[in-house]
Amino acid sequence: MKHLPIFPFLLTISTLLLTSTTSISTITPNQNISDGQTIISDDELFKMGFFSPSTRSNNRYFGIWYNKISVTTVVWVANREKPLNDTSGVLTLNDQGTLMLLDHTHNIIWSSNSSLTANNNIPVAQLLDTGNLVIRNENDLAVENYLWQSFDYPGDTFLPSMKFGIDFVKGLNKYLTSWKSVDDPSIGEYTNRFDSDGYPQILMRKGSKVEFNSGYWNGLRFSGMPNLKPNDIYTFGFEFNERELYYKYELVSNSVVSRMILNPEGRIQRFIWIERAGEWRLYVSGQMDNCDRYGLCGAYGICNINDSPACACLSGFEPREPEEWRRADWSNGCVRRVELSCEGGDGFVKRLGVKVPDTRRSWYNVSMNIEECERVCLTNCNCTAYATLDIKTRSGCLIWFDDLVDIRSYAEDGQDIFIRMAASELDTKAKAKRRVRVIIVPVLVSATVLLGICLFVYRKRKQKKNGVNSVVMVRENNFASDKKKEDWELPLFDFNTIANATNNFSDDCKLGEGGFGPVYKGILEDGKEIAVKRHSRKSKQGLDEFQNEVKCIAKLQHRNLVKLLGCCIDEDERMLIYEYMPNKSLNSFIFDEGKRKSMDWSKRYTIIIGIGRGLLYLHQDSRLRIIHRDLKASNILLDKDMNPRISDFGLARSLDGSDTKANTRRVMGTYGYMAPEYTIDGIYSTKSDVFSFGVLVLEIVSGKKNRGFRHENHDLNLLGHAWRLYKNGKQLELLDGAIKGSYVHSEVKRSIHVGLLCVQKYPEDRPDMTMVVLMLGSEIPLPEPKQPGFYTERRRPAEAESSSSNPEWSSSNHLSVTHLQPR
Ligand SMILES: *[C@@H]1O[C@H](CO)[C@@H](O)[C@H](O)[C@H]1NC(C)=O
Ligand SMILES: *[C@@H]1O[C@H](CO)[C@@H](O)[C@H](O)[C@H]1NC(C)=O
Ligand SMILES: *[C@@H]1O[C@H](CO)[C@@H](O)[C@H](O)[C@H]1NC(C)=O
Ligand SMILES: *[C@@H]1O[C@H](CO)[C@@H](O)[C@H](O)[C@H]1NC(C)=O
Ligand SMILES: *[C@@H]1O[C@H](CO)[C@@H](O)[C@H](O)[C@H]1NC(C)=O
Repeated sequence: MKHLPIFPFLLTISTLLLTSTTSISTITPNQNISDGQTIISDDELFKMGFFSPSTRSNNRYFGIWYNKISVTTVVWVANREKPLNDTSGVLTLNDQGTLMLLDHTHNIIWSSNSSLTANNNIPVAQLLDTGNLVIRNENDLAVENYLWQSFDYPGDTFLPSMKFGIDFVKGLNKYLTSWKSVDDPSIGEYTNRFDSDGYPQILMRKGSKVEFNSGYWNGLRFSGMPNLKPNDIYTFGFEFNERELYYKYELVSNSVVSRMILNPEGRIQRFIWIERAGEWRLYVSGQMDNCDRYGLCGAYGICNINDSPACACLSGFEPREPEEWRRADWSNGCVRRVELSCEGGDGFVKRLGVKVPDTRRSWYNVSMNIEECERVCLTNCNCTAYATLDIKTRSGCLIWFDDLVDIRSYAEDGQDIFIRMAASELDTKAKAKRRVRVIIVPVLVSATVLLGICLFVYRKRKQKKNGVNSVVMVRENNFASDKKKEDWELPLFDFNTIANATNNFSDDCKLGEGGFGPVYKGILEDGKEIAVKRHSRKSKQGLDEFQNEVKCIAKLQHRNLVKLLGCCIDEDERMLIYEYMPNKSLNSFIFDEGKRKSMDWSKRYTIIIGIGRGLLYLHQDSRLRIIHRDLKASNILLDKDMNPRISDFGLARSLDGSDTKANTRRVMGTYGYMAPEYTIDGIYSTKSDVFSFGVLVLEIVSGKKNRGFRHENHDLNLLGHAWRLYKNGKQLELLDGAIKGSYVHSEVKRSIHVGLLCVQKYPEDRPDMTMVVLMLGSEIPLPEPKQPGFYTERRRPAEAESSSSNPEWSSSNHLSVTHLQPR
């Protein structure tokens, strides 16, 4: 701490220092800061003092702003409502630990009137590097003992590590209030705050009128902020318990500066400072479009920005005032076509992919599951809808008791809601889409169980003839420690549908032959193209792979993962239906003499970043925390826009949330991509995937396969070669000769550098995927890579890779080593 003791002579020195170098972050009692003096936080990130928000006015305010940013950006103001009209203001701390702002007549303009006082201790006020101004006892750094902190009284700015929300113990609601205008910090019309009626949600109001609802925290994000996603810039989280309720974010790297504000026009915006350009850039806005206007479509209306008009009634509802509705005045909303009976005859219609309605008239229970939730809703006549409270853990129950207001649909990242309907409105629906409910506990355990489903589904199918059904599988989650049951749903395709689509599995439709069975291209009756992975009927491994793949991928959704459309189970047939990727796999491009030229640097770089993001999602953001274990060029498929999609989850494993590594006796993977600790000791972790990712990056940059790499001057493999070039400062020589024409030096260098960091010998040296994605996407300094694992090993001619005709679906070069170690 740079705090100085309070001996009179030292105080004089400190006052002197303040006027000259101002490098002290604290204020001690009876020391006063006058206009012109500033206090700077220890790492010099924030500064505080007097300022005028505009050159047009003489109003002086005491506030905090960024110290290292060329555009003065104020993040907090003490005397928002009471500006000083001259430069005579003084800020001083008294012995009780109250900060006071005095004018020239010693009138108190503003004070930090906290209920806590320093008692017999010596208080200090300190500006922290977070931008938080705190008052504490001199020797007590504990956050919970702060006498006062400016983070408890935010203005229009929500800074990293600030808790936005409610402290129930202290009775504090920490919310944003807009400035009147950019040069007037006094309290404007808009507020953005948690509303804890019903299940808490964040409402943005103009005066008392709600203008935008960010929604409630659904375990992953706020229901009304689909663009709040895991990203490279900041991490975020939500906490709700008896003591407090808050949302908070932290920057991933301190080389990034970001802040969130409620601007004078009532827009919620996140900005990022771009040093090079010397400006704040808008990163994301809370309100995205017209559908974010609160209640635009009225009760039971649903807004879809891609429709024209955007408002529609939920199915089973019709406009209350059809005339007004036609004139695009939707505010009166919709009414039921058939009233609810409430005599037990009602049921529910599931609406997918929405922002759920306003929760101010809602009820919740965090431990109920969705079946219990449905039951509770049915037994209460006022219940209009229910939903899963936490879509990440798929647990909890949220129930609405009122008209459903402010629903919108999202193209992706919406959630599901079950809307109560009269029985007569349900029948047609139910007939059209009956569900087969299958219970497997757990799905992974044995083939007999799966056979059980097959038969069951098969019989059902026989009764039902045609069409696409849906299997709901309930399985014991044997990964999560809490052994919770979970529900997952996967569309079930009819065997005949698939046989027709693939021309009865004709060879013409065959895309390739994987290690566990062939892959076909198919075209459904509606013209949709699919890829059908038919698992070998006999092989036990084929069965394991099938179950594994279903389990891993059924719930995953990310634009860099291949999408599973459904499955088909018919007698001993087991097939997975994927969306079809017209551009085949990455290795059909980068290792192909003809096509590699079309893969220019910017495409390659986009692909590297895409794979990184997909893998990051698998490792961290997906519910299961998945280790892929067989990441390689042939498992990266390319969609029509050449976006990479990670595929083939046959060898993937899920880790318990707390575990970070696991051990296997059967090492499965592909030579050239496997990390040393995995190949040798059978230890796999997210870091072994990072290794494979590193190999892939170097392959994409160089257009050469790690395995089978040859160089006339040395005996190293691709990793060794890349490292050698790097050491000699010649890393650009690694770049594929076919694309030497146009590339961005810094990106190529950075990719190689990151690739080398990923293939370091010891897993603990390798960065995790969060870091990798961040390193690739920013300009943060990179550590020096240490020597790669397996950099001298070269393919012996005898174990030449058996390249299959259509390598994109091939898994045939799996290596299987059985370790028989006493454990
Ligand atoms: C400033 O501090 C000095 C002592 O350091 C004190 O005498 C003076 O009254 C203070 N001024 C104000 C405005 O508080
Ligand atoms: C500042 O405001 C005070 C009262 O609030 C007033 O007496 C004084 O004249 C004002 N000074 C200027 C320069 O406007
Ligand atoms: C601080 O002062 C204001 C106005 O004087 C008052 O409304 C508020 O309740 C006080 N807060 C505390 C914590 O004493
Ligand atoms: C929530 O649900 C659980 C399980 O059904 C039940 O035991 C508990 O009492 C419920 N809590 C409340 C507050 O209703
Ligand atoms: C339903 O709502 C009405 C009016 O708000 C209320 O009087 C009644 O008690 C509620 N019924 C239930 C079961 O909650």
